[in-house]
Amino acid sequence: MGETFTREWVVRQILAGRKCEPVKSAGHGQAPVNIALCKYWGKRDRELNLPQNSSLSVALPGLDVAMSVTAAGGDADRVLMNGRMADPAVADRVGRFLDLFRPAGVTFEVDSTARVPPAAGLASSAAAFAALVRALDDLYGWRLEGRELSILARLGSGSACRSVYSGAVIWERGSRADGMDSFARPLQIEWPEFRVGLVMISEQPKFLGSREAMNQTVDTSPLYRAWPATAEEDLGKMVEAMERRDIAQLGELAEANALAMHATMIAARPPVLYWLPDTLAVMQRVWALRRTGVRVYFTIDAGPNVKLLYTERDRERVVTEFGPIVEYRPLPVV
Ligand code: PMV
Repeated sequence: MGETFTREWVVRQILAGRKCEPVKSAGHGQAPVNIALCKYWGKRDRELNLPQNSSLSVALPGLDVAMSVTAAGGDADRVLMNGRMADPAVADRVGRFLDLFRPAGVTFEVDSTARVPPAAGLASSAAAFAALVRALDDLYGWRLEGRELSILARLGSGSACRSVYSGAVIWERGSRADGMDSFARPLQIEWPEFRVGLVMISEQPKFLGSREAMNQTVDTSPLYRAWPATAEEDLGKMVEAMERRDIAQLGELAEANALAMHATMIAARPPVLYWLPDTLAVMQRVWALRRTGVRVYFTIDAGPNVKLLYTERDRERVVTEFGPIVEYRPLPVV
């Protein structure tokens, strides 16, 4: 048995003597939503959110979460999301994260504004935890670096460590038991023609959160064994494809990677299947369009909605086929 490390231990290392004492009345932070092209799926440490594999994402410009955190003296934390009280499960998760940075007797007021179209079908929890860490950094005047912010954000939600940066981002899995080498770093990729288009299928909350779905897959899916090595291999090739601005190569790899991730969950016992009939219909329309020479690919996260990947060259054909989709240009960083 190796040594086990707690979140409190990690926080102490990162803060390295810095205090949790407010230097202003409210701290502010913001962070973008990110979409993984090479997915993070499965933890090797569930306390520290250490992943089984490295992952690659792009941030969606203009979609972000803004947070403000105020230290108060009330009975309990107040967590507001877009002006309304957060549901108790969300407030509880935020409260437990804030415990890591809570001076004795302090409660917090957290006010979060998601600048994400409510109908976009995008999870904003990664952006929320990254924004919360930035807001705490501001409240306490720590002035931490990106890598340190990334490690703290990871303790809130794994994929949040990537939302510390804009543009293309790699989260290195790291190999240390304490996770101090598991953080995100930005890639310098300029590819203004690259597009991500969102195809909305359902706005319903998902039936199972990604945390539970991941753990259930790791614990019970016979296909999971093949995942970590497959993802590491995909990631290396995807970075090369991005550097060459090769949409066919990047798109094929990203699509195959998403399907392999979903295959591991479908084989879990009980199965985890996020697709709806319309999800499959969109996938088939993408393949049909590809057979006509259009370079369009998809990726799908832990939900039914589809994200299309293409470039400026095929934009007209994609928009004609899929109608009014919301489009983003993640690279270069704006
Ligand atoms: O960080 P979590 O627990 O929200 O998990 C993210 C899981 C996926 O979105 C499916 C993949 C990813 O890398 O973002």
